[in-house]
Amino acid sequence: MNILLIGSGGREHALAWALSASPLCDRLLIAPGNPGTAECGENVPVDPADHAAVVALCAREKIDFVVIGPEVPLVAGLADAVRAAGVKVFGPSAAAAQLEGSKAFTKELCKVANIPTGAFARFTSADDALAYLREKGAPIVIKADGLAGGKGVVVAASLKEAEDAIAMMFEGGLGAAGAEVVIEEFLEGEEVSFFALSDGHTAIPLASAQDHKRVGDGDVGPNTGGMGAYSPAPALTPELQQRAMDEIIHPTVAAMKAKGAPFVGVLFAGLMLTREGPKLIEYNVRFGDPETQVIMPRMKTDLVATLLAACDGVLGSFDVRLWDKAALTVVMAANGYPGDYRKGSTIRGVADAAALDDVLVFHAGTAMKGDELVSNGGRVLNVTAIAPTIAEAQKHAYDAIRLIDWPEGFYRRDIGWRAVSKH
Ligand code: AMP
Ligand code: GLY
Repeated sequence: MNILLIGSGGREHALAWALSASPLCDRLLIAPGNPGTAECGENVPVDPADHAAVVALCAREKIDFVVIGPEVPLVAGLADAVRAAGVKVFGPSAAAAQLEGSKAFTKELCKVANIPTGAFARFTSADDALAYLREKGAPIVIKADGLAGGKGVVVAASLKEAEDAIAMMFEGGLGAAGAEVVIEEFLEGEEVSFFALSDGHTAIPLASAQDHKRVGDGDVGPNTGGMGAYSPAPALTPELQQRAMDEIIHPTVAAMKAKGAPFVGVLFAGLMLTREGPKLIEYNVRFGDPETQVIMPRMKTDLVATLLAACDGVLGSFDVRLWDKAALTVVMAANGYPGDYRKGSTIRGVADAAALDDVLVFHAGTAMKGDELVSNGGRVLNVTAIAPTIAEAQKHAYDAIRLIDWPEGFYRRDIGWRAVSKH
């Protein structure tokens, strides 16, 4: 079949790598893609925000199946537009994508479906929010309701920090995303990313992973899109995973179906493993970035067959198998990220790193300048290694990264520390 993948990040390179390896894939197009995805298929310069252009591309290129990577086109209804044009699509409708597009929507759903999550309240005025805040005290978590590119959550250690976050959001610091604010109980525990596939009726587990959101070694400094990840997450034991399915994922799928907004796609649950068990921090309605870069290399079951099973409503009789191996990825980012950074610096040695056994280098913000690979974004490369254990994958990924010569980039030196120190 002809497949169109939407997106241009490291997640999409990993998806393109797995999709193009499937015997079911005759031709893979990526819109708009990056130099890494160009090695797996054909990049086409179509803007995912232009739904009519995507639909026209599907007709022109006889696309049988569309896979949507990022959240922004999902929340904007790209899956609906493609489905309305009669093309099969992996990714939720705009109605179902509210699970990521609106924190208040998800919190209300948790309340109705009795899903374990932090206690919360919603506010549209700063005065009411501040009064609630002073009653609850710190630590406490302040969240903008809408999509804010990962900048919409402030985990406030002090009341002052919480008050500043409220002021920033209601003064329009995050645009429309901050017009409504959710104030949430601070949850203590270890955080894991859990991925489940849903066909609208049934859900099955896919994999667990752990991200590293802070920019600096030892988990310090500002939040980023993610500086590295590994899979599986040892903290999510089989017993806890079953609890996550029973107490969080299945009730969500049932509640969405009951609302008339069945969820078809991958449900990415950010879970806090608290003393009382797993609690939902947030949902994303798509694969994680950089989590996908460590999940795809672990998939034994064909990715195209898996995603089609979700679209066709047959996950109940489907089984996803993973290799019993660990994968770990280290993100290389441009100096200055997540603040201001320069684009266009030369990167050498990627081919040498990628030539190592059990190493994959996924591109994110890269571009070609003539024959040269240059940086073209904040997060630029994902150096991924596969090995029997997380500790070995960690060593192997760092051996590979040393072959990459990019003076204007940096990376964390401790990706995987939590799993390696404990297990
Ligand atoms: P989110 O964008 O919702 O994933 O939030 C960003 C990060 O803030 C999460 O990955 C957590 O580390 C942290 N966080 C969010 N909500 C809570 C909470 N209720 N308690 C503790 N930490 C939280
Ligand atoms: N790695 C976190 C995310 O994809 O949102």
